[in-house]
Amino acid sequence: MGNEMMKDISSVLVPREEIEKEVKRIGAAISRDYAGKTPILISVLKGAFIFMADLVRNITVPCTLDFMSVSSYGKGTKTSGQVQIIKDLDTNIEGRDVIIVEDILDSGVTLSYLIRLLQARRPASLAVCALFDKPARHKVEIRLAYKGIEVPNEFIVGYGLDYAEKYRNLPDVCVLKPEIYE
Ligand code: IMP
Ligand code: MG
Repeated sequence: MGNEMMKDISSVLVPREEIEKEVKRIGAAISRDYAGKTPILISVLKGAFIFMADLVRNITVPCTLDFMSVSSYGKGTKTSGQVQIIKDLDTNIEGRDVIIVEDILDSGVTLSYLIRLLQARRPASLAVCALFDKPARHKVEIRLAYKGIEVPNEFIVGYGLDYAEKYRNLPDVCVLKPEIYE
């Protein structure tokens, strides 16, 4: 593959062609469901930035975008439900049709916090879209209006997803060699 990062990868889990197909499918579904509306897509930085960029180009209704950045507190595997806003929206979403665009639904802690926060701002509607879903790790129940690809309980990187801020620029979603994070 001629990619220096591939030495840290044990396997390609979701190749770019499959991701592209899925993004097209979700974009078409959103375009159908929001016909005649102008939804606002809100993406959670940084993991969802590539998905957001590809998704909006597959949406055929007018839409606007905004970005939020949050960080989860809690050490190691313990997710306390404490989430801090690093960057809030620039847009007033009251009365808007909001779609949250996430890279991956893992425990659901981040999304459940975001849903509560955004719902309090009285949007006309609020839907959640996640490109990847790791069902084995769910702690909080999140209803996904648009769900992409289910992945096993392994740590994945690429297509925006990172380990220690690296590997986001891998075009395929890959499983990292365990020795990299051990
Ligand atoms: P949650 O609050 O546990 O659902 O955390 C979701 C966030 O954790 C995602 O938006 C990702 O940024 C990150 N995350 C969860 N699983 C993975 C993974 O396998 N690889 C990279 N990042 C992940
Ligand atoms: Mg993220």
